Amino acid sequence: MNDYRLDLVHRPRRLRANENLREIVAESDLRTRHLCQGHFVIPGTSAEQEVASMPGVSRYTADRLIPVVERDLANGVRSVMLFGAPDEKDAQASGALDLDGEVPTAVRLLKTAFGDELTVMADVCLCPYTDHGHCGFVEGEEVVNDSSVAMLARMAAVLAEAGVDFVGPSDMMDGRIAEIRHHLDEVGYERTAILAYSAKYASAFYGPFREAAGSSPSFGDRRSYQMDYRNSREAIREVLLDLEEGADMVMVKPALAYLDIIRAVREVSTVPVAAYNVSGEYSMVQLAVREGLADERAMVLETLGSMRRAGADLIITYHASRVAAEGWLS
Ligand code: PBG
Repeated sequence: MNDYRLDLVHRPRRLRANENLREIVAESDLRTRHLCQGHFVIPGTSAEQEVASMPGVSRYTADRLIPVVERDLANGVRSVMLFGAPDEKDAQASGALDLDGEVPTAVRLLKTAFGDELTVMADVCLCPYTDHGHCGFVEGEEVVNDSSVAMLARMAAVLAEAGVDFVGPSDMMDGRIAEIRHHLDEVGYERTAILAYSAKYASAFYGPFREAAGSSPSFGDRRSYQMDYRNSREAIREVLLDLEEGADMVMVKPALAYLDIIRAVREVSTVPVAAYNVSGEYSMVQLAVREGLADERAMVLETLGSMRRAGADLIITYHASRVAAEGWLS
């Protein structure tokens, strides 16, 4: 018997022979419904500003955001994640509690225009509103936990009052999910859901976002609250805590350099897992495309597809508008 001939009994290429067969046996898929578009909201009216660090992304005033979201929705993008990019900042992050601030205003307009057709999520974090750019309050050089958490809970209630469907705490303070859940329930927003940024790493991939949101820390870095990229068990710990505290969905962030974490979290999570395809990941692809080094469609779909294969149920991405507008998934 010739072993060489026997080996050829196994021809994996048979299942790759044509498009139809590949469609039949594909193990994972990516649909427009899996994508959530991230948006930066600026104060005022009738303005749009391009974000230089993120080709193809603009910051919009709440009124200007409406037609943009309307088009995406018509193309199948069912959800948005909003970030505030306010002009005014102070040590107390007072802007975070302004019911007439840019984000609550955008939430009200979006929910009035689209109702339950559109799921509106909003980031809960102090960094766009603090003058020092940290995600919590600062005492001396320390980012303090518990008073920050109390403030984040109040910010979440303001967004809930504006009508947001999901609040998305991205601050990485300890115990904030429990505190936000408790406070929301106490003030009558038990139906507002929480998407917890559970495993959020201190990452170089947030650079372009910080330019868009004006949220770079003025001193130090975020490593005393965001996770160390050398760790994965710690991600599970964070996820399990957030589940116990009442998270309705959990998130891994960033996504591309953290596909192993998405997979590990998928295996323990009893709730949907979101992956955040962050600003630096977006800009790397867009700059490669601009330089003629990559085909945009192919690279975007492969990138987002890898997150689905890793186990992400929902992907927050700045590519969503374009994917949907070009009909790349229809
Ligand atoms: C706020 C926040 C950040 C991002 C989302 N929410 C920045 C940060 O933690 O520095 C990053 C998102 C992106 O890069 O697209 N804390």
